[in-house]
Amino acid sequence: MKRPIAELAGTGRYVPQKVLTNAELEKIVDTSDQWIIERTGIRERHIASADETIACMATSACQQVLEAAGVTVTEVDAIVVGTASPDRLLPSQACDIQKTLGAVNAAAFDVGAACSGFLYGLNVAEGLVAAETARNVLVVGAERLSTITDYTDRTTCILFGDGAAATLVRPSSDGKRGILGNYQKTDGRLGDLLYRSSGGANQPPSEAMVKERGWFLRMAGRETFKSAVLSMADACDQALSRAGLTGDQVDLLIPHQANLRIIEATAKHAGMPMDRVYVNIDRYGNTSAASIPIALDECVRSGRIKPGSIVLMVAFGGGFTWASAVVRG
Ligand code: ACO
Repeated sequence: MKRPIAELAGTGRYVPQKVLTNAELEKIVDTSDQWIIERTGIRERHIASADETIACMATSACQQVLEAAGVTVTEVDAIVVGTASPDRLLPSQACDIQKTLGAVNAAAFDVGAACSGFLYGLNVAEGLVAAETARNVLVVGAERLSTITDYTDRTTCILFGDGAAATLVRPSSDGKRGILGNYQKTDGRLGDLLYRSSGGANQPPSEAMVKERGWFLRMAGRETFKSAVLSMADACDQALSRAGLTGDQVDLLIPHQANLRIIEATAKHAGMPMDRVYVNIDRYGNTSAASIPIALDECVRSGRIKPGSIVLMVAFGGGFTWASAVVRG
């Protein structure tokens, strides 16, 4: 088994107060609680209020991480943020989090990998630690997908929710705890299956863009579903093989929470019974880059992850991107 270079120390999360239930969505679009539960596993999702910005949610999550890890804010060397729905386009989301957190000694930047953003960030953070460029790296996944969700489109608006969560990556304290294997992959040829057409340099904001609702996220659900199942299986295999492990040695699988059926297919491929798979999609929906770190924090705080637990995390998202990491807790 690989000797880990970097470990995860401390977790934290922030989930907005307001809950949007399937029953409320029934009043907005032509859908039903039964359809949403059967096809996705989602019962409710949390929606940020105007003052629950990403900077605010992520700062709260990072403060919990630092407290749990026993690290002061001035000891943070880098902040890596995965988000597809930043508070603003420039400066990067990470810069605004650095400011609100007061991490004055940190370099801060975003990684653009949609739902895979947190695991891409984790891999980048491990690299920074391995290169001895940084000792304490905050990795954040944070989204306000409700601001880019079209609540007239029943094929997407039932899926997404808001939230933020984080962890700290630092040198492994004992050469046993930490990241045992990881993997990331992209297929940009499939980018048009999940995208936002407007707001960037190709289609700057305009009246036409607003009228055409070009600001909002669009997804070819069925095709995305098929790719997600194949890619998450690939990501499980790759990270396990790099860690020198097999599925039966994994204590807990934390998959990206996009659809319960995708989660079940991923678990089946990895040879893991559902009692070793963490599922919270019923309460949060798909929170994109925030989904895995929210689940990770819930597992750490509830004792589901114990010292020595082997955890496999696997994500898939727009791009298409997919990624995985095997970590010993
Ligand atoms: N309520 C009722 N009916 C609906 C709804 C709804 N909310 N949405 C779609 N339907 C209808 C469709 O119109 C279609 O009707 P038709 O048969 O008359 O044409 C029927 O239900 C079936 O539609 P499908 O799209 O085939 O439904 P599917 O079972 O594929 O479920 C879903 C759709 C939930 C979107 C699924 O495809 C999915 O989860 N896709 C993957 C999402 C994912 O993995 N995302 C990850 C990345 S997200 C990111 O990066 C931000």
